[in-house]
Amino acid sequence: MKVSLLVAALTLFVGGAVLTAQSGRSYGPGHIWWDSGQGGNLPWEEQYDNADGLLGIVNERGAVHTEGHAFFEALGTNGRACITCHQPSNAMSLAAATAAQRWNETAGKDPLFAAIDGSNCPGLPQEKRESHSLLLERGLFRIFLAWPPKGADGQAIRPEFEIEVVRDPTGCNLDPKYGLRSERPAISVYRRPRMTANLKYLTGDEAGEARGMRLMADGREPSLRSQAINAVMGHEQAGVPPSAEQLRQIVDFERHIFAAQTADIRGGLLTEKDGPELLGPTNVSLGKGGVLGAAEDTFPVWRDPAGRLREGLQKDFRASVARGSEVFFGRTFVAGDHARATCSTCHNQRSAAAWMDIGTTNKAAAEAGSDELPLFKITCSGDAAPHPVYGRTIYTQDPGRALISGKCADVGSIVVQQFRGLAARAPYFSNGSAKTLQEVIGFYDRRYGIRLTAREKEDLGNFLRVL
Ligand code: HEC
Ligand code: HEC
Repeated sequence: MKVSLLVAALTLFVGGAVLTAQSGRSYGPGHIWWDSGQGGNLPWEEQYDNADGLLGIVNERGAVHTEGHAFFEALGTNGRACITCHQPSNAMSLAAATAAQRWNETAGKDPLFAAIDGSNCPGLPQEKRESHSLLLERGLFRIFLAWPPKGADGQAIRPEFEIEVVRDPTGCNLDPKYGLRSERPAISVYRRPRMTANLKYLTGDEAGEARGMRLMADGREPSLRSQAINAVMGHEQAGVPPSAEQLRQIVDFERHIFAAQTADIRGGLLTEKDGPELLGPTNVSLGKGGVLGAAEDTFPVWRDPAGRLREGLQKDFRASVARGSEVFFGRTFVAGDHARATCSTCHNQRSAAAWMDIGTTNKAAAEAGSDELPLFKITCSGDAAPHPVYGRTIYTQDPGRALISGKCADVGSIVVQQFRGLAARAPYFSNGSAKTLQEVIGFYDRRYGIRLTAREKEDLGNFLRVL
């Protein structure tokens, strides 16, 4: 494939070091999995194949020497590092397809599959593939949260609702050791890893304080620092928290690495001079268009008014992206309180609320007869402010923000993710319920009765693909 050759050429050019990792396992175009502790440099700029083209990463401060670096080295007891679940080739997230490939290559022995959260429940027979089905098929990790939650002051919060386990396909919520009735009551939900790139735009300062509570699906982490401590103690199963220097390294790395799609198989190079100026990781690092591609006026150049592009696939694709941006920013529909919402109403981190219930966890869960995810019944107390859509009895697969706030109105609310590198990190939504971008669009079309035409759906998909 041409694209692979391009990557090969670039990788060789950028630094031979990456091809010969100390562990003997290689990192390079043919084998892009990054092992914890493998050593070598993460180049200042790198590109990776995906089905739609190339994903690019840029390290604003130059190449990163990974040996001894806290993001790349295992800090706990299970052999995982941050890099295990936040892979450069997957836009610093992890695609379900990558997890499945890793299972096949290592017969399920990679630390990625650690029982604690890389399996449906730690009590299951770990050598069996089906015990890891949620990770392998939907890219989900088990997130277990103490119930009831504690507030910032360490005091238990009195939830406004009762929670019951209606369906427990993984066995973890009713498990005597890990479940809701165990000695340390906890609720297990299953979620996708979120990108650890472009985080400069989600955090306020060098300490990585979260801007508007936008970290994690439920906004539970106030800063990259607190997040890193919990990731080391949880995902990496460490006995001791990371040192101040390790935390500094992690936060520093996260705030200066940028990821975005950089070439498209049909559209060509996305970062051409005179093209839309917000595409590709360098433009993201420069703050052009932020993390949402939220500059509506830069795509019309791809309508090719001057007729410079040759007729054909590239011209058609670029025109489609330009039309897709108009759908994203301009096509209106009714969504909750918004009588004239557009996609950008919510996908605009400057103005929208951090978390919202759009029905990815509640409505779908209530309607689906059987499913591989747990189902909870929430019964809110009479004096609680009701949920805006479902009132006081709610069926949900992931109570989202309500697991932290204990509020009835928050049930099923998920923090909006950033939008970059989508082509490199399927599936979508926090619970991995949309396998493709077309499924995402289909979900919205049904949910809000938008009535997009087949062409609008295709255009919108092409727009999302190049971010
Ligand atoms: C076993 C896989 C795994 C490992 C290892 C892991 N993460 Fe994550 N990470 C996740 C998952 C899953 C989420 C989403 C959790 C949620 O939404 O509740 C996440 C979310 C994040 C986020 C939030 C990004 C956002 O936009 O909300 C950051 C930052 C992050 N991880 C950093 C780290 C760091 C730093 C480390 C190493 C100390 C690490 N992760 C190790 C799986 C992992
Ligand atoms: C009412 C607010 C709202 C509107 C309108 C909205 N979204 Fe979303 N979007 C969200 C929320 C909240 C999430 C996170 C949901 C989850 O993960 O379960 C999300 C998630 C997504 C994701 C998944 C990203 C990922 O990393 O998995 C995509 C893609 C997306 N939206 C595209 C769109 C498109 C296209 C439109 C217009 C048709 C749109 N959204 C309209 C609130 C909205």
